[in-house]
Amino acid sequence: MKALILSGGKGTRLRPLTYTGAKQLVPVANKPILWYGIESIVAAGITDIGIIISPETGGEVKSKTGDGSKFGAKITYILQNEPLGLAHAVKIAQPFLGDSPFVMYLGDNLVESQLDLFINKFQSKQLDALTLLSEVENPTAFGVAKVDRQGKVLQLLEKPPNPPSNLALVGVYLFSSTIHNAIANIQPSARGELEITDAIQYLIDQQQKVESFRLSGWWLDTGKKDDLLAANQIILDSCLDSKIEGEVDPTSNISGRVHVGLGSKIINSIVRGPVIIGENCHVENCFIGPYSSIADEATLIDADIEHSVILKAATVTKIQQRIVDSLIGERAKLHPAPQRPKALRFMIGDDSQIELI
Ligand code: G1P
Repeated sequence: MKALILSGGKGTRLRPLTYTGAKQLVPVANKPILWYGIESIVAAGITDIGIIISPETGGEVKSKTGDGSKFGAKITYILQNEPLGLAHAVKIAQPFLGDSPFVMYLGDNLVESQLDLFINKFQSKQLDALTLLSEVENPTAFGVAKVDRQGKVLQLLEKPPNPPSNLALVGVYLFSSTIHNAIANIQPSARGELEITDAIQYLIDQQQKVESFRLSGWWLDTGKKDDLLAANQIILDSCLDSKIEGEVDPTSNISGRVHVGLGSKIINSIVRGPVIIGENCHVENCFIGPYSSIADEATLIDADIEHSVILKAATVTKIQQRIVDSLIGERAKLHPAPQRPKALRFMIGDDSQIELI
């Protein structure tokens, strides 16, 4: 069995962060989202992994993720020149996939369950496609499935205005090589993409064996800020161990599960876990509340932060109000104007969102 991870696309819903970087590399608990997918694929015993990359962000994905050796896998990068759909990505990956069955994993998705569960069902029932489904409140934002009582998929619709159920298609799929013939027989959708939902629908119409697996654990599509913060919360809750590798001075107070990375200094601050602070950070006179992830080289002085993700080398100083539910980009600077402390002065990138209370 092989794996195909999709890490292309434009990441429009995470702008402005994705103007400069891949959405799949945005960190959750200080680790790129994409790497969770790679790790769970390797944990299921699959080590031959293809990663679809785009011309815009492929270089960064490649240089950070490498040849797979750090995950115990072999990674082959496959360039998708334009974001022409998930089925198009499978089409261009055909030379890599050959006749092998494969797991397709969307690089911005996180699932709690181990993949073995789905792989076992797929293999023992000799299926042509296995889709994972999860109940959601907003099915119009996803691919949606209509299933019968046995879990057999009857119909799949991509982002339907009138969804037939609240069962969304999770971004993890299992396919036999019959999917390639299905993709060869579909046409681009109204949005100009070759949709994987249409390819699976083709398999259903051809009476191939397509079944679904209902997820009971959490599933997150991290494409938007609030979803990313939710993913950060869940991962910190479930996977973080206490580890203090940096320096915490005696006037600071650390409670709960807190990880402080090498070279970081915590001075006169309160840190209430779960919190992860990366390497070489400077935290002084701060309150860092639960569900915060602070990436390497960040500087926080006289700040009060909770339930937020601060990316690499960002600086937050002398902010009087508590910063909550926030995502602060790499090297971003947040500080009061020195000459007019009560004035606000901004230089904000395109598509940024600032909420002043
Ligand atoms: C894609 C799929 C959709 C699926 C979703 C899961 O949508 O087309 O069927 O429900 O991933 O994350 P996208 O996120 O590309 O809009």
